[in-house]
Amino acid sequence: MGLKQLIACMIPSIVLRIIRLQKELKQLGTAEQVECKTDNLRYKRDLSLSDILNSREIEGMWFDSEKEIKKLSIPDGTGGVNPGDRRAIYYLISAIKPKSVLEIGTHIGASTIHIASALSKTSEENANITTVDIADVNSRTKKPWLEYGITHSPIEMIDNLGYRSFVEFVTDTSLNYAASCQRSFDFIFLDGDHSATTVYQEIPVALNLLNQDGVILLHDYFPNMKPLWSNGSVIPGPFLATERLQNEGVNVIVLPLGRLPWPTKLESHVTSLALLLRN
Ligand SMILES: C[S@@+](CC[C@H](N)C(=O)[O-])C[C@H]1O[C@@H](n2cnc3c(N)ncnc32)[C@H](O)[C@@H]1O
Repeated sequence: MGLKQLIACMIPSIVLRIIRLQKELKQLGTAEQVECKTDNLRYKRDLSLSDILNSREIEGMWFDSEKEIKKLSIPDGTGGVNPGDRRAIYYLISAIKPKSVLEIGTHIGASTIHIASALSKTSEENANITTVDIADVNSRTKKPWLEYGITHSPIEMIDNLGYRSFVEFVTDTSLNYAASCQRSFDFIFLDGDHSATTVYQEIPVALNLLNQDGVILLHDYFPNMKPLWSNGSVIPGPFLATERLQNEGVNVIVLPLGRLPWPTKLESHVTSLALLLRN
């Protein structure tokens, strides 16, 4: 263990949290104000979370998909979204039926697989997902998935399920990718760099890439920066970023998914997933 890590271990977690928050606030405070166009964002009134999460029809499809996905043994607790969140994402995609999805933050592909599976079952032909990660998640030389206890890379899992024709993997930062992107999307999932400044910059960019009636989904949204679970952890970035946008008069509201009908993590049903919509 290095000296820095040793010192970090000796500092109480509450102090570390305050230091992290101060750093986030300082960086966000220096970020230039961004222009935000919310014209394509779906209205809150046009989406019922309760109907989506309690849909019997989607539940039927989910049980079929779950059987296939389970064979891949995607682990929990290794940086991918937790199993309850995977299911919630599956339900959202199944209900919204986007033709095009952009995901920021592929990592082990836990969410990618669930989005792809829902697209394969419910969306029209040619529905597709592009998943972007700053790291080469499918690198044949580094094989990063082995570090997380998975036997297959995200692209191999996608291949195994027969989804290769409609899943594109991109190695780039979210902001670089968006700057050269010639496409637009119906559904954008932001689960990459969770710092307040990056999320503050990603949201306007994502809004510009949205098709009419599009939806943005955030991960690690902690309302009012309060812990959601018994471990007391908080990732302040997504909340701080959306709070600043709202303070600047941008017409966005955040709709946390809250408590799911199924378990998520740490013996709770609570999720940090939240939809970005407009009033
Ligand atoms: C929490 S993980 C994503 C988990 C993934 N959705 C899953 O369920 O397996 C975050 C990922 O975002 C990537 N990332 C971090 N900053 C990024 C950026 N600026 N642009 C794109 N990807 C980024 C990291 O390399 C990491 O793989």
